Amino acid sequence: MTPSQTSFVTARLGSNEDLGGGCRLLALVLPEQLPAWDVEPGQFVMLRGDWGLHPLLPRAFSVLSAGSGRLEILVKVVGRGTRLLAGQAPGSTMTVLGPLGRPFPAPASGVKDLLVAGGSGIGPLFFYGLRAAPGSDLELLYGGRSGGDLVLAARAAAAGLRLHLCTEDGSAGSRGMVTDLLGERLDGSGPMRVLACGPTPMLRAVVELCGARGVECWVSLETEMACGVGLCRGCSVAHPEGGWRCTCLDGAVFRAEEVLL
Ligand SMILES: Cc1cc2nc3c(=O)[nH]c(=O)nc-3n(C[C@H](O)[C@H](O)[C@H](O)COP(=O)(O)OP(=O)(O)OC[C@H]3O[C@@H](n4cnc5c(N)ncnc54)[C@H](O)[C@@H]3O)c2cc1C
Ligand code: FES
Repeated sequence: MTPSQTSFVTARLGSNEDLGGGCRLLALVLPEQLPAWDVEPGQFVMLRGDWGLHPLLPRAFSVLSAGSGRLEILVKVVGRGTRLLAGQAPGSTMTVLGPLGRPFPAPASGVKDLLVAGGSGIGPLFFYGLRAAPGSDLELLYGGRSGGDLVLAARAAAAGLRLHLCTEDGSAGSRGMVTDLLGERLDGSGPMRVLACGPTPMLRAVVELCGARGVECWVSLETEMACGVGLCRGCSVAHPEGGWRCTCLDGAVFRAEEVLL
């Protein structure tokens, strides 16, 4: 993906499905005359509805799936922008800037990928699982507070992903944190790699576990963003050796050693 391929386009909302847990699945239909978007798992878009001035800025969302002129996005409602997006009716127009950012590394032969998703952080990892070749050695560890937070569990199972669920209240899968599931699997039984997305405390714990066991780890960050293209510096994260990195340009996927969480 080169910056020159990135474009601002007007898309149509094809469908808007309630997934429960305060989440919606938006399917966007891209204009037919556009060349196909070459989106990779871990990349994101800046998205805005046709709602007047407030909020002015688009919001960032990882791509959940892409193909045949369509993009799917998972939206968890947390504030005004996501509430407005969640309320858009099929057929309405949306402005989409993308695809943006650095994706997850591609699957590597002979290396097991452990995908660790917390709540609405499932989006880019679901996409990674969908895109991996059939028979790829990967497992998806998916955790939330309760079963209602695991809004893509049924889809992930239907897509044939090897799925392990856990919830803090024990209402789905095993009781505990997703990092408990990860700890059980980082057993040194072969080459492994961890790819994670979720709340920052979860990512910190994942990075610490991987660091202690010497396992390669990549994290997809959801820092607040204003522009998505390197202009505002609102998405800066500290680098361990000093200085800053932009989540939108240098991430959103970082190797764990590249950022201080
Ligand atoms: C690269 C990237 C990918 C993302 N992917 C997804 C995704 O797939 N699905 C999804 O639902 N969300 C995703 N997000 C988060 C999403 O962009 C925010 O939830 C959204 O911008 C909030 O907008 P709002 O107007 O509803 O909330 P605001 O009114 O702006 O804020 C409401 C509350 O949410 C907090 N908040 C705002 N932005 C963020 C953020 N980025 N992370 C955590 N808290 C925030 C604010 O501090 C405030 O407390 C992603 C963010 C980034 C940067
Ligand atoms: S969001 Fe503006 S520089 Fe990254």
